[in-house]
Amino acid sequence: MGTMARGAMTTIYTKAVKPTIFRIHPDKVHDGMIVQGSRIQRLTPVLAAAETLLAHEDPALETEAYGLTLRNPLGLGAGLDKNVAIPGILQMTGFGFLTFGSVTSRVCAGNPRPWFHRLPEQESLVVHVGLANGGAEAVAARLRALAAAADPRLTSLPFKISIARTNDGRTGDVDEGIDDYVRSVRALDGLSPLLELNVSCPNTMVGEAFTAPEALDRLLAAVDAAAPSQRIVLKMPSDKTWEHFRDLVDVALDHRVDGLTLTNLRKDRDGIGMDPAIRGNLSGRPVRDLSTEILRRTYLHAGDRLTLAGLGGVFDGRHAYDKITAGATLVELVSGLVFRGPAVVGTIAAELVELARADGFDRVQDAVGSRADSPVPAAG
Ligand SMILES: Cc1cc2nc3c(=O)[nH]c(=O)nc-3n(C[C@H](O)[C@H](O)[C@H](O)COP(=O)(O)O)c2cc1C
Repeated sequence: MGTMARGAMTTIYTKAVKPTIFRIHPDKVHDGMIVQGSRIQRLTPVLAAAETLLAHEDPALETEAYGLTLRNPLGLGAGLDKNVAIPGILQMTGFGFLTFGSVTSRVCAGNPRPWFHRLPEQESLVVHVGLANGGAEAVAARLRALAAAADPRLTSLPFKISIARTNDGRTGDVDEGIDDYVRSVRALDGLSPLLELNVSCPNTMVGEAFTAPEALDRLLAAVDAAAPSQRIVLKMPSDKTWEHFRDLVDVALDHRVDGLTLTNLRKDRDGIGMDPAIRGNLSGRPVRDLSTEILRRTYLHAGDRLTLAGLGGVFDGRHAYDKITAGATLVELVSGLVFRGPAVVGTIAAELVELARADGFDRVQDAVGSRADSPVPAAG
């Protein structure tokens, strides 16, 4: 039943819905999705029925990570729902966990619009949002209200909150940046099982101070001292040399960091052939192999000392499985939802079980790192 429903939904999405919405500016589509999604998710019986059709349930998908038992290893990556507006809609698609944010300590208007540009042939979004969000205090209040309402359609999935440094004209030196992160950590303390520190947003006016190893070391020492109740995950950049990246991993290993999410958007546009006037950085297919290769090397370097989540260009089961066999315990996606539609999560979940079984694994998690010795082939 689920397979047929997902197949029908994918056909409708790719043949009818996507051609229609791809005629509308992506900023408008994104804003509309949040407004309409917030309304639709009040229809909780509809969400429950849709989840039955879309989600793929199988004990072989159950995944242990961060002390949690997840129904599957697939999560929403940061950025689609910054202010926790549509958790019910996202849960309905069949994810095992969600990421909200990135949020910042001060309310942040983000960069001047446009924020998005589509590259349909590359299956990529050029993202230039610059961390627009309602601020950590507002998101904390929203999470408290959801918990008090105790609506399982909105609150039953485990989630991370992604925290970034505020991107505005008041941003100062490294000390100010550390203070900014710690304010958010304190505001959100205890409100989620996991906090993700986004140190790698490529769309800010002050750059990425905390992808320098010394600055990251100081930031993580301050977060250690703040001692939030959550486990800490770092969102990693995609554009560093392996030597630089490895230094960042080593800094993480010196602190109270439980895991890494690899990777953020791609900066370089080599081979993309796009208008240089378009501002922003690339999601989707152009990030896929780049991020899987960084993940593989990180797994070989850090082993099971860190829980790795692979993200970048995951549109089908094979892409997700490649990240798992390279060393990812968890796999996240954002652009896959945009380019393949809401049935993509359940479809990937079903394909993952088949791919793992074909390799002789009873559980998908048993396949983690099983091909980490083989470099990811370039371009795919
Ligand atoms: C619409 C959009 C907004 C994003 N916003 C954020 C963000 O706020 N914080 C963050 O860490 N990453 C953000 N990202 C990056 C994604 O989390 C992810 O690292 C990247 O898009 C690669 O995954 P994908 O190919 O599945 O989209 C955003 C990506 C997209 C497409």
